[in-house]
Amino acid sequence: MEVMYMVYSGRYTRPNLHLLLLIILQFDLRTVEAVWPLPQTFTSSTERYSLYSQAFYFGYGRQSAAQHGCSVLDDAFKRYFPLIFPDYTHAYDFQRFVSGRPFTVEVSVDHDDCESYPKEDSSERYNLTVSAGHASLNAETVWGAIRGLETFSQLVYQDDFGSYFVNKTEIEDFPRFQFRGILLDTSRHFLPVQAILKTLDAMAYSKFNVFHWHIVDDPSFPYQSSTFPDLSSKGAFRPMTHIYTQSDVRRVISHARLRGIRVLPEFDSPSHTQSWGKGQSDLLTPCYKGGAPSGTFGPVNPALSSTYQFMARLFKEVSSVFPDSYIHLGGDEVDFSCWKSNPDVRAFMQKMGFGTDFTKLEAFYIESIVNITSALNRTSIVWQDVFDNHERRNSLSVVEVWKHGCYLCEVRKVVKAGLRVILASPWYLDQPGPTHNWARYYTVWPLAFKGTEEQKKLVIGGEVCMWGEYVDATNLSPRLWPRASAAAERLWSDEKQTSSVEKASPRLQDFRCRLLRRGIQAEPLYVGHCKHEYQGV
Ligand SMILES: *[C@@H]1O[C@H](CO)[C@@H](O)[C@H](O)[C@H]1NC(C)=O
Repeated sequence: MEVMYMVYSGRYTRPNLHLLLLIILQFDLRTVEAVWPLPQTFTSSTERYSLYSQAFYFGYGRQSAAQHGCSVLDDAFKRYFPLIFPDYTHAYDFQRFVSGRPFTVEVSVDHDDCESYPKEDSSERYNLTVSAGHASLNAETVWGAIRGLETFSQLVYQDDFGSYFVNKTEIEDFPRFQFRGILLDTSRHFLPVQAILKTLDAMAYSKFNVFHWHIVDDPSFPYQSSTFPDLSSKGAFRPMTHIYTQSDVRRVISHARLRGIRVLPEFDSPSHTQSWGKGQSDLLTPCYKGGAPSGTFGPVNPALSSTYQFMARLFKEVSSVFPDSYIHLGGDEVDFSCWKSNPDVRAFMQKMGFGTDFTKLEAFYIESIVNITSALNRTSIVWQDVFDNHERRNSLSVVEVWKHGCYLCEVRKVVKAGLRVILASPWYLDQPGPTHNWARYYTVWPLAFKGTEEQKKLVIGGEVCMWGEYVDATNLSPRLWPRASAAAERLWSDEKQTSSVEKASPRLQDFRCRLLRRGIQAEPLYVGHCKHEYQGV
C-alpha cells in the first residue's frame, strides 16, 4: 500500500487518498489467479510481497549441482523474466519512483543434467518456498526446476495499478503420471515449425512433457530423410516448402528439450503409408482385382525382404535424429483386403504357416519392426490395434489406447497382460463440437478400473490427440487451449483435490487469461472477460 501511494504521489501532486483506498479495497476482493495444474501440496497466506522488475533476480543456490552456464536453466531464466513481468517496459516508468526491495529466486538442483535430454523416468519433483525477498526452488533435476519456475511465474499477480505481487507460499509438487503428451499430426495438414514451437511453449505452461510428433501419414510425408530424400521430395504436399528439414527437426527437439519436453516421433506403418509409396517403389502392396494389379496400393508389403531392409535403414536414421528412448510405431487400422487380394502375399502366408489368418501376418510384420527398433535401443509404443490382434504379446512394451467405448476395459486388458498403457481415448480434442464442455476432458478417471496397485502403476500417463483433418495453423491453438489444459491437470494433479469442475472452473478461466497474455490464442470457456485482452491479433 505504501508503494502504491508512492507511485501515485510521484505522478499526481495530491493523490485522493480516499478514492485510492476504495480502489485498493475493491481490488482485494478479487480472486488472485492460482496455479494450473494444481500443485500436490500448496499452502499460501495473505502475506504478500511486492516484486519490481528492476530488482528481481534469478540465481543458483550455493549447493546446487548446476551453476551459471547451465543451458536449460539460463534459458529458462531468460524466458520467465518477461512471463513474470508481462509489461515490464511500461512498468519501468512508474517504478523508477520507488526504490524496490530486491527479490531473488534461488534455484538448486541435485544433479548437473543441464546438457542432457529429458528421460521417461526423469524426476519433475520440486519444492518452492516463497518468503520475504526470496524464493527458493529445489529440485532433483533441471526438469523439476523448470516445472517449479512455471509455478512461480503463475504465483505472481498484478493489481489494478500494474504493481506485481507474490504471496508467502509453500509448495511441494510432483506429477501424478510420468507421461503427459500432446500429439500433433503434420501429415494431414502441414504445420509450420513456428506453430509447433508455439505449441511447445504452451505445453510447458500446462506442464506437458511429451510432444508426440505424428510426422507422416497417408496424405503427406513432410519429414526430409537424409537416407531417402525421395520420401519427402515425392511424398510431401510441396517438396520445397511443406517439409521438415533436418535442421527444422533439430530446432524442434532443442526447443522442446529446453522446456523439459521429450519429442516422440511416430512413423506409423504398415497402414497409413500411402505417401511413403510415392518416393519408395515396391514398398506398398499392389492390390489385385480380377487376377491383375488394379493400380492401387495397400499397406506396406510384409512379404518382401526389401521392406525390412528399408525399414531398418529408415529407423536407423530416425533413431540418430530423435534422441528419445521411445519410438512410436503406429500399427493402427490395418485393412487386410489388399493383402488378401495379392497372390505374392498369400504365397508368403502359406510359406510362413499363417494359413488365412491375416492378424498373424500383421503380428509378424510389427514384430519385425519392433525387433529393428529394439536393436537400436528404442522402446516401442504401438496403438491398441496391435495389442488386440496380437497373440504373442511379449514383444510389446507400451500400448496406446485410443478407441472409444469402454476404454478402461481395454486399459485393464493391457495392464493384465503386464504391458504399460498410455491413455488417449478421452482426449481426442481435434473433433469440432461444443467447446464449452472442457469438463468432459477433466472428469476422466484413468485408474477407475479393477486392478492391483502394480497394474495401476502400468498406466504411465495420457495423451491429448490433435489429428489434422480439420486442423492447421489457423485453428490449432484455440482448438487445443485451454481444453488440453484440462487434461494436463488430470495428468499432473492429485485426483481427489481436483475432482470438482465447479472449483476448477474459475481457476481455468484465469489460466486461460494468462495463456492469452502470453500470446497463446486460447479460446474462451464462457461469458466473461480477461483483465488484459489478447494483443496478438
Ligand atoms: C494473497 O494475499 C492477498 C493480500 O493479502 C490476499 O487477498 C489473497 O487472498 C492472497 N492469495 C492467496 C492465494 O493466498
